[in-house]
Amino acid sequence: MTRQRACSLADVPDGTAHQVVVDGHPIAVVRCAGDVYAVGDICTHQRISLSEGEVMCAEKAIECWKHGSAFSLVDGTPHALPATKAVPVFPVTVEGDEIYVEVP
Ligand code: FES
Repeated sequence: MTRQRACSLADVPDGTAHQVVVDGHPIAVVRCAGDVYAVGDICTHQRISLSEGEVMCAEKAIECWKHGSAFSLVDGTPHALPATKAVPVFPVTVEGDEIYVEVP
């Protein structure tokens, strides 16, 4: 795993997701009430960008806009069909105003 800068906190207003590509990995960086998460940005059902979907902070999930599967921001598992496979989850650290992720 290597640690790389993903974006700035200012790029991810609270309750939103921001797409980045780090070392070839499309990642949705998500911010909820001070916590920052990084999950694979591509829905495992079809190739839809999860960062275009709704962030559900109360459920710690992000919903795919296409068919409604919501993926856990904590472990990447889908909470509802039609997606059945988890998206990857990337460890996140925040230093000052910068967000870093660890990628394989
Ligand atoms: S494309 Fe995401 S749930 Fe179908």
